[in-house]
Amino acid sequence: MSRSARLVPAVAAVTLLLALTACDDDGAQDTPGARGRDAAGAAGVGAEGVGDPYFPEAGNGGYDVSHYGLALAYTPDGNRLTGTAVVTARATEDLAAFDLDLAGMTVEEVTVAGDRAGFRRDGQELIVSPPVALSEGETFEVRVRYSGSPRTITDPDGSKEGWLRTADGALALGEPTGSMAWFPGNHHPSDKAAYDIAVTVPKGLTAVSNGELRRTTTAADGRTTFAWHTAEPMASYLATVAIGRYTVTRSTLPGSTGPGSGSATGSATGSGSRSGSAAEGGLPVYVAVDPSQVAASRTVLARLPEVMEWAEYNFGPYPFSSAGAIVDRPEDAEYALETQNRPVYPGAPDLVTLVHETAHQWFGDSVTPRTWQDMWLNEGLATYAEWLWTEDEGGATAEETFTRLYDHGEDEYEDLWAFPPAKPTSAAHISDTPVYVRGAMVIHRIRRTVGDDAFYDIVQGWAAAHRHAGAGTDDFTAYVEKRAPDEDFDEIWADWLYGEGKPARP
Ligand code: TRP
Ligand code: ZN
Repeated sequence: MSRSARLVPAVAAVTLLLALTACDDDGAQDTPGARGRDAAGAAGVGAEGVGDPYFPEAGNGGYDVSHYGLALAYTPDGNRLTGTAVVTARATEDLAAFDLDLAGMTVEEVTVAGDRAGFRRDGQELIVSPPVALSEGETFEVRVRYSGSPRTITDPDGSKEGWLRTADGALALGEPTGSMAWFPGNHHPSDKAAYDIAVTVPKGLTAVSNGELRRTTTAADGRTTFAWHTAEPMASYLATVAIGRYTVTRSTLPGSTGPGSGSATGSATGSGSRSGSAAEGGLPVYVAVDPSQVAASRTVLARLPEVMEWAEYNFGPYPFSSAGAIVDRPEDAEYALETQNRPVYPGAPDLVTLVHETAHQWFGDSVTPRTWQDMWLNEGLATYAEWLWTEDEGGATAEETFTRLYDHGEDEYEDLWAFPPAKPTSAAHISDTPVYVRGAMVIHRIRRTVGDDAFYDIVQGWAAAHRHAGAGTDDFTAYVEKRAPDEDFDEIWADWLYGEGKPARP
């Protein structure tokens, strides 16, 4: 299920060259700015990246965001977006200046704590100079007014993300760096935050985003504002906006009240029911489907409650206060994405894709990778969820899937052994087969080593230990070792997780 398997390889190669060239233009390798106060005691400049090994410019140093308040207005005609972003953050060092990431768009005004700030652009960096330096520990609000035609970003692997135009609107996808195309922020998974995203669209269109729909208000001219609220921490790559004509179905999953509660035991109350909210004792489910995809996706979406229940049974309580799906047209995106609460599917998903994106709500969305090198924690676990689902449905056991891949995996995926899951060759490869499939094989080796009972304890314990936070590969291997102190994982880590080439038969 590698994302790249759905790409045309020739296109990927060409775009990789373009991407490398573009990097040079952006001056990607500037040394990070001075941190904190310099020798003379002046406040410093926050770094232009957090030091991600694969995306060095992603995110910024010097502050921590707690909340994004985005007020956007979009007109599909002419692809026109106007926005105000209010970013609430805490300075982690004294700052005379700091960066936000924003690719494209025109910045009209920046204020910090209500006062006009200086700003300049340098590639994807929006460099803000507040009128008064910020002190370490200070919480501040930066407000950015911007407008323009948001861009589509081509990833190092050739796939498209950022702002994608669709037949009737747009779709924003952000993994790994696309969210900088539509709002300024600290665009790295290590800085999660709460969000309020309000989107105003022309009459007749719907704007869907993450979290819960708090309000819809229609102005005299017919334009409607959809205000979405995400309370649980979210990485910016999981933020989405989908604008267009949608058939919306709202329901609740009884028996679950969202974060911290027990499991979902019932099935959906069905379409057309009153909108649910956690306060009413159920998990609200909001499903938006492009009208052309309603018939094709009906059967699979009807199984969402069952998939959720299965996932809670295996992985522990669902970590968020709402769920759902966004189904756009097949041509609108090249891959599905586990956008928080509400994954995006290009066309009706198949059942294992629904399982995969649902599993990501635990692995990726709630427990978020510390850097893009830790991607296999997302994709290995979500792919292993597919194997578990298939096993539980009476299909191939995970052991059979593992053995088939070990013996003949190269026939299906020629790059299966190209690199170890925890060390992709470059940014162009973070969504390749080894991250997904060999990553799932690592998980299976752990299960075989510890046995089923300990395995499910480890999976649920891992999701609980880092819930709504971030974790890296070292955290994971240390956690597994701590939970199974009598077992030896050296060969799994050395050969399967970090070793080059096909490991010896286990
Ligand atoms: N995470 C998506 C999935 O498996 C696929 C994907 C989209 C992806 N963009 C990516 C994976 C960028 C890695 C990097 O459902
Ligand atoms: Zn995935």
